[in-house]
Amino acid sequence: MLKPLDIHPGVGDRRAVMEEVNRTAAGKKLQHPASHAPRIFADTADIEEIRPLQERGVISGVTTNPTLLKRAGADSWESAMKIMKDIVDLVAPDPVSLELTELEPVGMIEQAKKLAGIGENVVVKVPVGGYKAINEELDSFTGLRVINQLWKDDIKTNCTLIFNSTQAFWAANAGATYVSPFLGRVADYLYQNDQVERPPGNSLYYVEDHKIPEGGADRVANTAYVAMDGARKDSGIRLINEIVAIFNNYRIKTEVLAASFRNAVQVTECLLAGADILTVPAPLLMGVTDHPLTSQGMAAFVEDSKVFEK
Ligand code: G3P
Repeated sequence: MLKPLDIHPGVGDRRAVMEEVNRTAAGKKLQHPASHAPRIFADTADIEEIRPLQERGVISGVTTNPTLLKRAGADSWESAMKIMKDIVDLVAPDPVSLELTELEPVGMIEQAKKLAGIGENVVVKVPVGGYKAINEELDSFTGLRVINQLWKDDIKTNCTLIFNSTQAFWAANAGATYVSPFLGRVADYLYQNDQVERPPGNSLYYVEDHKIPEGGADRVANTAYVAMDGARKDSGIRLINEIVAIFNNYRIKTEVLAASFRNAVQVTECLLAGADILTVPAPLLMGVTDHPLTSQGMAAFVEDSKVFEK
């Protein structure tokens, strides 16, 4: 697991030059104590998941993608647009990432402008690459070219599907406002491709009896693995750690928006690594204040405080 000492020494310096997230309210004598804390976004297109988090002041933004929109019930571009507009209106002025579905630059820029027209808080999400995998005729640099053009046009972008630190660097160079590294998918990949005969450290999901559990990305196994100190060898968090370190080196202000969470341990690791934003699935966020020992402690306090009622 990532340890506090693994934090790049420049994290504090860089955070100090980034925007203050929690500003002190007018007239308050006490400064907000976490003015440069990372922001938490909800990674969902389901407005009924967003609403309670918004009302509780837990989130400062939302990220969506075509998969999340489909899961939220969108079955046409029109219905997707309606869902996106409802989210943008609900969350304003906080940012909402909306992903491009067009694949060639002219159509992408046109679509980006339409999406940006939904609201001032829209951030246009652009895949960093993968274009050639869809169509051999497409240019590998389509995403970066579009990001650069949108930067020139004063449109905020979130460069998505980041799986290594150089992709993040090139996206920042092109002018991306945010980069979205998918740490959970890195962890999934390691789990699926792990070699069980190797010692701990070759997969995030390595378990004590050296057997990979059946049924895919098992969250309990993942937690066990992290507790064994294996994740630091290479896992999703290494991706975040590297990007933050590189951005620190050059005071790059593109925000590192850690994405694709599978469990609360990864949330802790991203906070240790110095991510600027964490976009987290709603069910994970709804559980952040609970812990079995907190529940046990609360029960004892409530029981003991009954004595004051006499
Ligand atoms: O924000 C990116 C995220 O939605 C990807 O998550 O769970 O599909 O890997 P996942």
